[in-house]
Amino acid sequence: MSQFDHTSTTNDVIADINLHGKRVVVTGASSGLGVETARVMAAAGAAVTLVARDQDKLATALAGLQEAVPGATFDAAIADLADLDSVRTGAAAILAHAPQIDILVNNAGIMACPLLRTAQGFEMQFGTNHVGHFLLTSLLMPALLQGAPARVVNLSSAAHKFAPVNLEDPNYQQRDYQKWQSYGESKTANVLFSVGLEQRFGARGVHALAVHPGMIATELGRHMDQADFEMIAGDTDPADMPYKSIPAGAATSVWAATSPELAGRGGLYLEDCHIAEPAAGDSRGGVESYALDAQAADQLWSLTEELIGEAFATG
Ligand SMILES: NC(=O)c1ccc[n+]([C@@H]2O[C@H](COP(=O)([O-])OP(=O)(O)OC[C@H]3O[C@@H](n4cnc5c(N)ncnc54)[C@H](OP(=O)(O)O)[C@@H]3O)[C@@H](O)[C@H]2O)c1
Repeated sequence: MSQFDHTSTTNDVIADINLHGKRVVVTGASSGLGVETARVMAAAGAAVTLVARDQDKLATALAGLQEAVPGATFDAAIADLADLDSVRTGAAAILAHAPQIDILVNNAGIMACPLLRTAQGFEMQFGTNHVGHFLLTSLLMPALLQGAPARVVNLSSAAHKFAPVNLEDPNYQQRDYQKWQSYGESKTANVLFSVGLEQRFGARGVHALAVHPGMIATELGRHMDQADFEMIAGDTDPADMPYKSIPAGAATSVWAATSPELAGRGGLYLEDCHIAEPAAGDSRGGVESYALDAQAADQLWSLTEELIGEAFATG
Protein backbone atom coordinates (compact mmCIF):
# COMPACT_ATOMS: atom_id res chain seq x y z
CA MET A 1 0.00 0.00 0.00
CA SER A 2 1.59 3.25 -1.12
CA GLN A 3 2.37 5.77 1.62
CA PHE A 4 1.67 8.55 -0.89
CA ASP A 5 -1.58 10.09 -2.11
CA HIS A 6 -3.04 12.91 -4.22
CA THR A 7 -1.33 15.53 -2.07
CA SER A 8 2.15 14.04 -2.45
CA THR A 9 4.70 15.98 -4.49
CA THR A 10 7.68 14.97 -6.56
CA ASN A 11 9.98 15.85 -3.66
CA ASP A 12 7.98 13.57 -1.35
CA VAL A 13 8.10 10.52 -3.61
CA ILE A 14 11.79 10.93 -4.51
CA ALA A 15 12.96 11.55 -0.92
CA ASP A 16 14.43 8.07 -0.34
CA ILE A 17 15.43 7.39 -3.95
CA ASN A 18 19.00 7.57 -5.27
CA LEU A 19 19.31 7.75 -9.06
CA HIS A 20 23.07 8.23 -9.33
CA GLY A 21 24.37 6.25 -12.30
CA LYS A 22 20.91 6.11 -13.91
CA ARG A 23 19.87 7.55 -17.26
CA VAL A 24 16.37 8.99 -17.55
CA VAL A 25 14.76 10.14 -20.81
CA VAL A 26 11.72 12.45 -20.63
CA THR A 27 9.61 13.52 -23.62
CA GLY A 28 7.67 16.77 -23.52
CA ALA A 29 10.47 18.21 -21.41
CA SER A 30 9.86 21.76 -22.64
CA SER A 31 6.78 22.45 -20.50
CA GLY A 32 4.57 21.48 -17.58
CA LEU A 33 4.93 18.04 -16.01
CA GLY A 34 7.90 17.06 -18.18
CA VAL A 35 10.14 19.83 -16.85
CA GLU A 36 9.25 19.02 -13.24
CA THR A 37 9.79 15.29 -13.83
CA ALA A 38 13.21 16.01 -15.31
CA ARG A 39 14.10 18.36 -12.44
CA VAL A 40 13.38 15.95 -9.64
CA MET A 41 15.04 12.97 -11.36
CA ALA A 42 18.18 15.08 -11.87
CA ALA A 43 18.03 16.26 -8.25
CA ALA A 44 18.05 12.57 -7.22
CA GLY A 45 21.27 12.09 -9.19
CA ALA A 46 20.12 10.83 -12.61
CA ALA A 47 21.58 11.97 -15.91
CA VAL A 48 18.52 13.26 -17.74
CA THR A 49 17.84 13.55 -21.46
CA LEU A 50 15.29 16.22 -22.29
CA VAL A 51 13.31 15.49 -25.45
CA ALA A 52 11.22 18.20 -27.08
CA ARG A 53 10.17 19.40 -30.51
CA ASP A 54 10.85 23.12 -30.18
CA GLN A 55 14.53 24.15 -30.02
CA ASP A 56 13.88 27.51 -28.31
CA LYS A 57 11.52 26.11 -25.67
CA LEU A 58 13.94 23.27 -25.04
CA ALA A 59 16.83 25.73 -24.57
CA THR A 60 14.76 27.78 -22.11
CA ALA A 61 13.76 24.65 -20.15
CA LEU A 62 17.35 23.42 -20.12
CA ALA A 63 18.65 26.75 -18.80
CA GLY A 64 16.01 26.73 -16.04
CA LEU A 65 16.84 23.16 -15.06
CA GLN A 66 20.58 23.81 -14.99
CA GLU A 67 19.91 26.68 -12.61
CA ALA A 68 17.50 24.58 -10.48
CA VAL A 69 19.86 21.59 -10.23
CA PRO A 70 23.44 22.91 -10.45
CA GLY A 71 25.99 20.29 -11.48
CA ALA A 72 23.40 17.82 -12.83
CA THR A 73 23.97 16.12 -16.17
CA PHE A 74 21.40 17.14 -18.78
CA ASP A 75 21.42 16.18 -22.45
CA ALA A 76 18.90 17.29 -25.03
CA ALA A 77 17.38 15.87 -28.20
CA ILE A 78 14.86 17.24 -30.65
CA ALA A 79 12.04 14.93 -31.73
CA ASP A 80 8.68 15.94 -33.15
CA LEU A 81 6.39 13.04 -32.27
CA ALA A 82 4.07 14.11 -35.07
CA ASP A 83 6.73 13.23 -37.64
CA LEU A 84 8.17 9.71 -37.66
CA ASP A 85 11.30 10.88 -39.51
CA SER A 86 11.94 13.37 -36.70
CA VAL A 87 11.34 10.61 -34.13
CA ARG A 88 13.99 8.50 -35.88
CA THR A 89 16.49 11.37 -35.91
CA GLY A 90 15.72 12.15 -32.28
CA ALA A 91 16.09 8.53 -31.19
CA ALA A 92 19.49 8.33 -32.91
CA ALA A 93 20.59 11.50 -31.06
CA ILE A 94 19.44 10.01 -27.74
CA LEU A 95 21.19 6.68 -28.35
CA ALA A 96 24.40 8.50 -29.26
CA HIS A 97 24.78 9.74 -25.66
CA ALA A 98 22.59 7.15 -23.90
CA PRO A 99 23.38 3.58 -24.98
CA GLN A 100 21.77 2.45 -21.72
CA ILE A 101 18.45 3.84 -20.48
CA ASP A 102 17.00 3.04 -17.06
CA ILE A 103 13.79 5.08 -17.21
CA LEU A 104 11.84 6.40 -20.21
CA VAL A 105 8.99 8.77 -19.41
CA ASN A 106 6.71 9.14 -22.43
CA ASN A 107 5.20 12.36 -21.13
CA ALA A 108 4.61 14.58 -24.18
CA GLY A 109 1.02 15.11 -25.18
CA ILE A 110 -1.48 17.22 -27.02
CA MET A 111 -5.15 17.58 -26.06
CA ALA A 112 -8.40 18.45 -27.80
CA CYS A 113 -6.91 20.16 -30.83
CA PRO A 114 -8.93 20.69 -34.01
CA LEU A 115 -8.66 18.00 -36.69
CA LEU A 116 -5.02 18.07 -37.76
CA ARG A 117 -2.77 15.46 -39.33
CA THR A 118 0.78 14.40 -38.57
CA ALA A 119 3.49 14.35 -41.24
CA GLN A 120 2.51 10.76 -42.09
CA GLY A 121 -1.23 11.56 -42.09
CA PHE A 122 -2.28 10.19 -38.70
CA GLU A 123 -4.88 12.12 -36.71
CA MET A 124 -2.80 14.48 -34.55
CA GLN A 125 -3.75 13.33 -31.04
CA PHE A 126 -3.52 9.59 -31.80
CA GLY A 127 -0.40 10.20 -33.90
CA THR A 128 1.44 12.30 -31.30
CA ASN A 129 0.29 10.75 -28.04
CA HIS A 130 0.43 7.13 -29.16
CA VAL A 131 2.09 6.43 -32.54
CA GLY A 132 5.08 8.75 -32.07
CA HIS A 133 5.79 7.33 -28.61
CA PHE A 134 5.34 3.77 -29.88
CA LEU A 135 8.08 4.28 -32.49
CA LEU A 136 10.35 6.18 -30.08
CA THR A 137 10.05 3.40 -27.49
CA SER A 138 10.78 0.77 -30.13
CA LEU A 139 13.92 2.60 -31.25
CA LEU A 140 15.07 3.04 -27.63
CA MET A 141 14.23 -0.56 -26.61
CA PRO A 142 17.79 -1.90 -27.11
CA ALA A 143 19.02 0.75 -24.65
CA LEU A 144 16.18 -0.04 -22.23
CA LEU A 145 17.02 -3.74 -22.34
CA GLN A 146 20.62 -2.75 -21.66
CA GLY A 147 19.34 -0.87 -18.59
CA ALA A 148 17.11 -3.68 -17.32
CA PRO A 149 15.60 -3.63 -14.79
CA ALA A 150 14.20 -0.59 -16.60
CA ARG A 151 10.85 1.19 -16.62
CA VAL A 152 8.73 2.88 -19.26
CA VAL A 153 6.16 5.34 -17.91
CA ASN A 154 3.39 6.32 -20.33
CA LEU A 155 1.39 9.42 -19.45
CA SER A 156 -2.26 8.55 -19.91
CA SER A 157 -5.22 10.38 -18.37
CA ALA A 158 -8.58 9.90 -16.67
CA ALA A 159 -9.78 11.03 -20.10
CA HIS A 160 -9.19 7.42 -21.20
CA LYS A 161 -12.72 7.02 -19.80
CA PHE A 162 -14.06 9.02 -22.74
CA ALA A 163 -13.54 6.16 -25.22
CA PRO A 164 -11.86 2.86 -26.07
CA VAL A 165 -9.55 2.98 -29.09
CA ASN A 166 -11.47 2.67 -32.34
CA LEU A 167 -9.35 -0.02 -33.98
CA GLU A 168 -11.38 0.19 -37.20
CA ASP A 169 -10.74 3.88 -37.79
CA PRO A 170 -8.09 5.19 -35.39
CA ASN A 171 -7.27 8.15 -37.63
CA TYR A 172 -10.78 9.50 -38.19
CA GLN A 173 -10.88 8.81 -41.90
CA GLN A 174 -14.44 7.42 -41.95
CA ARG A 175 -16.18 9.23 -39.07
CA ASP A 176 -16.77 12.76 -37.88
CA TYR A 177 -13.94 14.11 -35.79
CA GLN A 178 -14.63 14.72 -32.11
CA LYS A 179 -11.70 16.27 -30.30
CA TRP A 180 -12.48 14.88 -26.83
CA GLN A 181 -13.28 11.42 -28.09
CA SER A 182 -9.99 11.46 -29.98
CA TYR A 183 -8.07 12.57 -26.87
CA GLY A 184 -9.76 9.80 -24.88
CA GLU A 185 -8.87 7.20 -27.50
CA SER A 186 -5.24 8.31 -27.55
CA LYS A 187 -5.06 8.11 -23.75
CA THR A 188 -6.62 4.64 -23.77
CA ALA A 189 -3.95 3.74 -26.33
CA ASN A 190 -1.29 4.87 -23.82
CA VAL A 191 -2.63 2.34 -21.29
CA LEU A 192 -2.97 -0.46 -23.86
CA PHE A 193 0.59 0.27 -25.03
CA SER A 194 1.77 -0.19 -21.42
CA VAL A 195 -0.07 -3.54 -21.29
CA GLY A 196 1.46 -4.59 -24.62
CA LEU A 197 4.97 -3.56 -23.56
CA GLU A 198 4.66 -5.46 -20.30
CA GLN A 199 3.48 -8.59 -22.12
CA ARG A 200 6.45 -8.52 -24.48
CA PHE A 201 9.28 -7.13 -22.36
CA GLY A 202 8.31 -7.57 -18.69
CA ALA A 203 10.00 -10.97 -18.49
CA ARG A 204 13.16 -9.36 -19.89
CA GLY A 205 13.14 -6.72 -17.15
CA VAL A 206 11.57 -3.75 -18.96
CA HIS A 207 8.34 -2.89 -17.18
CA ALA A 208 5.70 -0.44 -18.36
CA LEU A 209 3.27 1.63 -16.31
CA ALA A 210 0.54 4.05 -17.33
CA VAL A 211 -0.14 7.16 -15.27
CA HIS A 212 -2.98 9.61 -14.76
CA PRO A 213 -1.24 12.63 -13.23
CA GLY A 214 -4.40 14.39 -12.01
CA MET A 215 -5.77 17.70 -13.24
CA ILE A 216 -3.09 20.37 -13.45
CA ALA A 217 -3.15 23.81 -15.08
CA THR A 218 -0.47 23.56 -17.77
CA GLU A 219 -0.13 24.47 -21.44
CA LEU A 220 -2.05 21.27 -22.22
CA GLY A 221 -5.23 23.35 -22.11
CA ARG A 222 -4.07 25.59 -24.96
CA HIS A 223 -6.83 24.35 -27.29
CA MET A 224 -9.64 24.57 -24.73
CA ASP A 225 -12.42 27.16 -24.80
CA GLN A 226 -14.98 28.13 -22.14
CA ALA A 227 -17.37 25.36 -23.17
CA ASP A 228 -14.57 22.81 -22.76
CA PHE A 229 -13.79 23.99 -19.23
CA GLU A 230 -17.51 23.76 -18.37
CA MET A 231 -17.72 20.25 -19.84
CA ILE A 232 -14.72 19.11 -17.76
CA ALA A 233 -16.19 20.66 -14.60
CA GLY A 234 -19.56 18.95 -15.12
CA ASP A 235 -21.68 19.46 -12.00
CA THR A 236 -18.69 20.55 -9.93
CA ASP A 237 -18.37 24.22 -9.00
CA PRO A 238 -15.25 25.50 -10.83
CA ALA A 239 -13.90 26.70 -7.48
CA ASP A 240 -14.09 23.13 -6.13
CA MET A 241 -12.31 21.45 -9.03
CA PRO A 242 -9.60 19.12 -7.69
CA TYR A 243 -6.65 20.83 -9.38
CA LYS A 244 -3.13 19.79 -8.41
CA SER A 245 0.06 21.82 -8.44
CA ILE A 246 2.67 20.81 -11.02
CA PRO A 247 4.88 19.09 -8.37
CA ALA A 248 1.84 17.10 -7.17
CA GLY A 249 0.84 16.37 -10.77
CA ALA A 250 4.26 14.99 -11.69
CA ALA A 251 4.47 12.93 -8.49
CA THR A 252 2.68 9.87 -9.89
CA SER A 253 5.02 9.75 -12.92
CA VAL A 254 8.04 9.91 -10.61
CA TRP A 255 6.52 7.31 -8.27
CA ALA A 256 5.86 5.04 -11.28
CA ALA A 257 9.43 5.49 -12.46
CA THR A 258 11.20 4.94 -9.16
CA SER A 259 9.09 3.35 -6.42
CA PRO A 260 10.59 0.13 -5.01
CA GLU A 261 7.00 -0.99 -4.37
CA LEU A 262 6.50 -1.34 -8.11
CA ALA A 263 9.71 -3.27 -8.80
CA GLY A 264 9.08 -6.10 -11.26
CA ARG A 265 5.49 -4.96 -11.90
CA GLY A 266 3.89 -3.49 -14.98
CA GLY A 267 0.86 -3.30 -17.22
CA LEU A 268 -0.78 -1.19 -14.51
CA TYR A 269 -2.60 2.16 -14.48
CA LEU A 270 -1.63 4.47 -11.65
CA GLU A 271 -3.22 7.61 -10.20
CA ASP A 272 -2.55 9.64 -7.04
CA CYS A 273 0.62 7.58 -6.39
CA HIS A 274 -1.42 4.37 -6.19
CA ILE A 275 -2.42 1.51 -8.43
CA ALA A 276 -5.89 2.55 -9.58
CA GLU A 277 -9.02 0.64 -8.70
CA PRO A 278 -11.38 -0.48 -11.48
CA ALA A 279 -13.56 2.44 -12.60
CA ALA A 280 -16.94 2.51 -10.89
CA GLY A 281 -20.01 4.54 -11.78
CA ASP A 282 -19.34 8.12 -12.78
CA SER A 283 -16.42 8.61 -10.38
CA ARG A 284 -13.55 10.73 -11.74
CA GLY A 285 -11.02 8.05 -10.78
CA GLY A 286 -10.28 4.43 -11.60
CA VAL A 287 -9.36 2.57 -14.74
CA GLU A 288 -11.74 1.21 -17.37
CA SER A 289 -11.42 -2.52 -18.09
CA TYR A 290 -11.18 -1.86 -21.86
CA ALA A 291 -7.92 0.02 -21.25
CA LEU A 292 -6.31 -3.04 -19.63
CA ASP A 293 -7.69 -5.58 -22.11
CA ALA A 294 -4.86 -7.85 -23.31
CA GLN A 295 -6.55 -8.67 -26.61
CA ALA A 296 -7.16 -5.00 -27.44
CA ALA A 297 -3.53 -4.31 -26.49
CA ASP A 298 -2.39 -6.93 -29.02
CA GLN A 299 -4.68 -5.55 -31.72
CA LEU A 300 -3.43 -2.00 -31.14
CA TRP A 301 0.16 -3.25 -31.22
CA SER A 302 -0.29 -4.91 -34.64
CA LEU A 303 -2.24 -1.93 -35.97
CA THR A 304 0.47 0.50 -34.89
CA GLU A 305 3.21 -1.62 -36.45
CA GLU A 306 1.22 -1.51 -39.70
CA LEU A 307 0.82 2.26 -39.45
CA ILE A 308 4.54 2.90 -38.93
CA GLY A 309 5.51 0.22 -41.44
CA GLU A 310 7.91 -1.68 -39.23
CA ALA A 311 7.88 -4.28 -36.49
CA PHE A 312 8.60 -3.18 -32.92
CA ALA A 313 12.21 -3.81 -31.92
CA THR A 314 12.91 -7.13 -30.28
CA GLY A 315 16.13 -5.91 -28.72
N1 LIG B 1 -2.23 18.67 -17.18
C1 LIG B 1 -3.20 17.80 -16.94
O1 LIG B 1 -4.22 18.12 -16.28
C2 LIG B 1 -3.11 16.38 -17.44
C3 LIG B 1 -4.14 15.50 -17.10
C4 LIG B 1 -4.07 14.20 -17.58
C5 LIG B 1 -3.01 13.80 -18.37
N2 LIG B 1 -2.03 14.70 -18.70
C6 LIG B 1 -0.93 14.24 -19.56
O2 LIG B 1 0.30 14.64 -19.03
C7 LIG B 1 1.25 14.82 -20.08
C8 LIG B 1 2.00 16.12 -19.89
O3 LIG B 1 1.10 17.18 -20.07
P1 LIG B 1 1.28 18.66 -19.47
O4 LIG B 1 0.07 18.90 -18.64
O5 LIG B 1 2.62 18.82 -18.87
O6 LIG B 1 1.11 19.52 -20.81
P2 LIG B 1 2.03 20.60 -21.52
O7 LIG B 1 2.51 21.60 -20.52
O8 LIG B 1 1.26 21.08 -22.69
O9 LIG B 1 3.27 19.75 -22.00
C9 LIG B 1 3.15 18.85 -23.07
C10 LIG B 1 4.49 18.63 -23.69
O10 LIG B 1 4.32 17.79 -24.84
C11 LIG B 1 5.02 18.37 -25.92
N3 LIG B 1 4.49 18.00 -27.24
C12 LIG B 1 3.27 18.24 -27.74
N4 LIG B 1 3.22 17.83 -29.01
C13 LIG B 1 4.44 17.32 -29.32
C14 LIG B 1 5.03 16.77 -30.48
N5 LIG B 1 4.37 16.66 -31.65
N6 LIG B 1 6.32 16.36 -30.42
C15 LIG B 1 7.02 16.48 -29.30
N7 LIG B 1 6.54 17.01 -28.16
C16 LIG B 1 5.25 17.43 -28.19
C17 LIG B 1 4.88 19.85 -25.69
O11 LIG B 1 5.81 20.54 -26.48
P3 LIG B 1 5.64 22.13 -26.82
O12 LIG B 1 6.11 22.79 -25.58
O13 LIG B 1 6.52 22.33 -28.00
O14 LIG B 1 4.20 22.33 -27.11
C18 LIG B 1 5.16 19.91 -24.19
O15 LIG B 1 6.52 19.84 -23.92
C19 LIG B 1 0.46 14.71 -21.39
O16 LIG B 1 0.68 13.44 -21.96
C20 LIG B 1 -0.98 14.85 -20.96
O17 LIG B 1 -1.88 14.17 -21.82
C21 LIG B 1 -2.05 15.97 -18.24
